[in-house]
Amino acid sequence: MEPVTRRNVLILGGVAAAALAGGGLILWSEAQRGEPEPQATPTPGPSPTGTPPAPDADTGTLVEPAVLQSSGGRLELTLTAALTEVVVAGRQVRALTFNGSLPGPTLRVRPGDRIALAFRSELDAPTNLHTHGLVVSPEGNSDNVFVMIEPGAGFDYEYELGDDHPPGVFWYHPHHHGNSAEQLFRGLYGAIIVEDDEPVEATRERLLIVSDIAFDGDDVHLASAPERMLGREGDIVMVNGQVGATLLAKPGERERWRIVNACSSRYLRLRLDGQRMQLLGVDAGRYAEPADVDQIELLPGNRADVMVTAVEGTSVLQTLPFDRGGMGMLGRPSSATTGADLLTMTVAGAAATAPNLAVPLPTTRDLRTEQMTGSRTITLAMGPGRGGGGMSFTIDGREWDLDRIDAEVAAGALEEWTIVNASPMDHPFHLHVWPMQVIEVAGQPVSGTDWRDVVPVPARSRTVVRIAFEGITGKTVFHCHILDHEDLGMMGNVRTS
Ligand code: C2O
Ligand code: CU
Ligand code: CU
Repeated sequence: MEPVTRRNVLILGGVAAAALAGGGLILWSEAQRGEPEPQATPTPGPSPTGTPPAPDADTGTLVEPAVLQSSGGRLELTLTAALTEVVVAGRQVRALTFNGSLPGPTLRVRPGDRIALAFRSELDAPTNLHTHGLVVSPEGNSDNVFVMIEPGAGFDYEYELGDDHPPGVFWYHPHHHGNSAEQLFRGLYGAIIVEDDEPVEATRERLLIVSDIAFDGDDVHLASAPERMLGREGDIVMVNGQVGATLLAKPGERERWRIVNACSSRYLRLRLDGQRMQLLGVDAGRYAEPADVDQIELLPGNRADVMVTAVEGTSVLQTLPFDRGGMGMLGRPSSATTGADLLTMTVAGAAATAPNLAVPLPTTRDLRTEQMTGSRTITLAMGPGRGGGGMSFTIDGREWDLDRIDAEVAAGALEEWTIVNASPMDHPFHLHVWPMQVIEVAGQPVSGTDWRDVVPVPARSRTVVRIAFEGITGKTVFHCHILDHEDLGMMGNVRTS
């Protein structure tokens, strides 16, 4: 198999051309679907979208969620989920919130910390909490997605981060099977930042939680059956709950942006034309060196750690359209997603000196050089639904079952997993607790070392990852991170013991 070179990347198309340069970027595109690529990449300029600027869009400065920071190795907090009257995308609506805000508070911790989180539910449906990407125990009162919190009840979570926990941006959201997508889409998400041991120098740091939403009157839209099958997407794309916010910077300043894709289904293809972007890594992974990029693809659940060096002028952070396939039947809708303008960055004033971009060299492990102890193949598929209606979403031909173990793994195992997508729609594959090193996507080997917890599995293709099941044991899940698909059954249980 030939490695990805500049040339075959360009053949793959515009998507990949953006993501060149650095080591370890995942390169793939819709070209595999046989679509002519040129139309897929609209020329930068005015909004490529259909997102109408909300008439009452906030045009204010970007606001970030409140930060709760650990001290003395401990963070204690209460997180209350409730239906709240809140201003979202510039309008007064009823949404679900954590502690009354959307997004919820940002938890800032350090490796070795302990988080004591008292969860209180004022929702009218069962829920729970997942700390997406954290390398912590999936059992007991830690990151246990099998916990069910009834309406009006609570649960005291306690998460213990190892001293060697990777730094990066993570996030939290509900994960009760059947309700995950709806509760996320209605507003339940927030960020978790695990600080670097040696700080990465920047003029300032920003958190950008990107999510989409849609309203029916004053309430968040509830998805129909076809919308759930495609994966619900909102026509409004927000950053930190705002539409059309602005950022100011001086030329030469260097900002560290932590970007979270908290959309239930929407794939983001982010551009910030006119500014310089260097990608430090995706999820908890960090590249051997920062990679210059024009475009960043974030699947639902992915996070990016980006350095933006400010260049005089005005730039728009936009997300481009992305076609993640359809249901493969004539006349059935496809998921072709529109783009949107997310915010405007104005760079003006006296030039500042950028701090050196000194990123502590990661000691990233490369499982390509290690002998695997096992391998397995996991097949994602869509088929006719039971009883003739709808469609089934399966892993290895079966819908999720709480009591079945789909992958029994020996503690300490090093495994290669081939994720096969037998369907005409893309599925972002997510494994809890143990990060995955991406080896190959749709027949293209990944260059460099690329660790993530949500990996692309484009329609009718396969993705190869390697996983070290070390350090933590227990039972947890893997699933499609189009959370509607997870709720519809595209999830399996893994147990390491
Ligand atoms: Cu972000 Cu199992 O989920
Ligand atoms: Cu997760
Ligand atoms: Cu899916």
